[in-house]
Amino acid sequence: MIPDPPFALLAELTHRCPLQCPYCSNPLDLERAAKEMTTEEWCGAIRQAAALGCMQVHFSGGEPTARPDLELLVSEAAAAGLYTNLITSGVLCDRARLKRLAAAGLEHVQLSFQGTTASLADRIGGHAGGHEKKLAFAQDVRDTGLPLTANFVVHRQNVHQLDDMIGLAVLIGAERMEIANVQYYGWALKNRAALMPSRAQLDRMTGQVAATRERLKGIVTIYFVVPDYYARRPKACMGGWGRRFLNISPSGKVLPCHAAESITSLTFDTVREKPLADIWLRGSAFQAFRGTGWMPEPCRSCDRKEIDWGGCRCQAFAITGDAAQTDPACALSDDHESLVLTALEDASTGGDDFVYRNFRTAKVLPEF
Ligand code: SF4
Ligand code: FES
Repeated sequence: MIPDPPFALLAELTHRCPLQCPYCSNPLDLERAAKEMTTEEWCGAIRQAAALGCMQVHFSGGEPTARPDLELLVSEAAAAGLYTNLITSGVLCDRARLKRLAAAGLEHVQLSFQGTTASLADRIGGHAGGHEKKLAFAQDVRDTGLPLTANFVVHRQNVHQLDDMIGLAVLIGAERMEIANVQYYGWALKNRAALMPSRAQLDRMTGQVAATRERLKGIVTIYFVVPDYYARRPKACMGGWGRRFLNISPSGKVLPCHAAESITSLTFDTVREKPLADIWLRGSAFQAFRGTGWMPEPCRSCDRKEIDWGGCRCQAFAITGDAAQTDPACALSDDHESLVLTALEDASTGGDDFVYRNFRTAKVLPEF
């Protein structure tokens, strides 16, 4: 069966980042600057994505504004007819640069926050002064006239600020806000015991989000990603493997999901060596879990198999060591009960210290 074209490309331009969030979705083996694709290589990949049928490109990282050629890449994407979005920490980009990006064709900004107070947010992000810079950047986005989404990753150590997060999103004039519970693979898996919320915290946040959505209808749209470990059924991760999204890593590896490199049993083609269309249509990593043919029981005979597409492959691998297993977030999985027990244990006994995400802890030296 020939797959539909991808809807969106996540372009991870670099793994360099001034922040060190302990739940980062980048792989544990961060890619060095010396391995990053050149401007010409990224432009080629963007043109190929547009030719393949992609509608959107999301410039991400690491911190995408660490690339001095970002304006060029945005303008290449705009010229190819792609909707352009910048996913940023907001700490490296001043107003003049933001204006240049808007002039190059940037259409939307997604700004991440780690909390609502500088002391907590800067501790979580591992970057002193970061929160103040984000607030200034949010003002710059408003002044530039670009639409803004505020991203909050929530976990045990910041969920008490949820009401203030919602207030902050309104204050900075965000049209959308995303409240996403941590997804546990890669760095977040390393830090699971420090991040896992309790069941009581989850119940409280679910109620808060529902009530606030109603109250803020027409002012800010709220997207809420629930924590998998306490779910009964998994989410349709990535909208189904190899169905809607593709991701290109800083060195050009083409991935079906931003965390796919955590699945060490897969190998990934690179856009440096193969045309993007070939990789999307026939690449072994994309074929591995596309559709429903790969599914084991109970997914194979389940009436939700074309709704959630078997859940998350990265989570199945992280928990069971086999990416082809049913996502343990599903209550029908044999591994579900132990997943819930792990969550309860982490939430009640985990400490507060983080393993920060950086090139030192990744045991890879950066080459700037
Ligand atoms: Fe989804 Fe598989 Fe669970 Fe059915 S058994 S709900 S397809 S994960
Ligand atoms: Fe990779 Fe869910 S995060 S498939």
